Amino acid sequence: MKVIVCNNYDELSMEAAKIMAATIKEKPDGVLGLATGSTPIGMYDNLIEMYKNGELDFKDIKTFNLDEYYPLSADNDQSYHYFMNKQLFSGINVKEENIHILDGLSKDPEKECADFEKLIDEAGGIDIQVLGIGQNGHIGFNEPDDKLYANTHLTDLTENTIKANSRFFEKESDVPTKALTMGMGTILKAKKIIILANGKAKHKVVSELVQPMITTNNPATFLNAHADVTLICDKEAFEG
Ligand code: PGA
Repeated sequence: MKVIVCNNYDELSMEAAKIMAATIKEKPDGVLGLATGSTPIGMYDNLIEMYKNGELDFKDIKTFNLDEYYPLSADNDQSYHYFMNKQLFSGINVKEENIHILDGLSKDPEKECADFEKLIDEAGGIDIQVLGIGQNGHIGFNEPDDKLYANTHLTDLTENTIKANSRFFEKESDVPTKALTMGMGTILKAKKIIILANGKAKHKVVSELVQPMITTNNPATFLNAHADVTLICDKEAFEG
């Protein structure tokens, strides 16, 4: 795993945007795997800036998002549909039909997940996947457990994740207890992966991630089995 340690969040956001931009320039009809959460917001701001400057064009880019709460409607302001529109899609020229986010209201989640996998394959696979990391080591909503799922699936959120994400909701009981998420195999099939982490709260899981080992107790450590992963973190996440 390649590791880039940045002085602060702004630097991390620019490093991540530069890697994304290089992929988009190299393959203007490429496929991006995108993440939500607070960490990638600065990177998205930079990508919007690069689009506005004429440096980047998203007209043939396809996107697939890691996950979505379940059940939750796309127009709910806590949904990841809403987040992506606000933080990135409304600021760039990606085509609506090229955006793929799991349907948090799907009546048949199993089919929704299978169709999502198929769409990724039909698009030629993900060229670059962006990841955040949960304080418990989750990537997407692949939570620490004895077993992890390979494919996109419906999953229960852990107490830890519900607590961590409750900061975005009015109260903790409003946080959905389930989500649809890409599986570990879906993520690991991406050709290139960048994982972003900032702040002391991520130090424990980041220090496990940079050791050459794999454990289902920290799903992010599975990235050690991938040939092209870059961890971009700030000093606090790296050093504690
Ligand atoms: P955060 O979330 O970027 O808001 O810290 C990361 C995650 O839970 O994957």
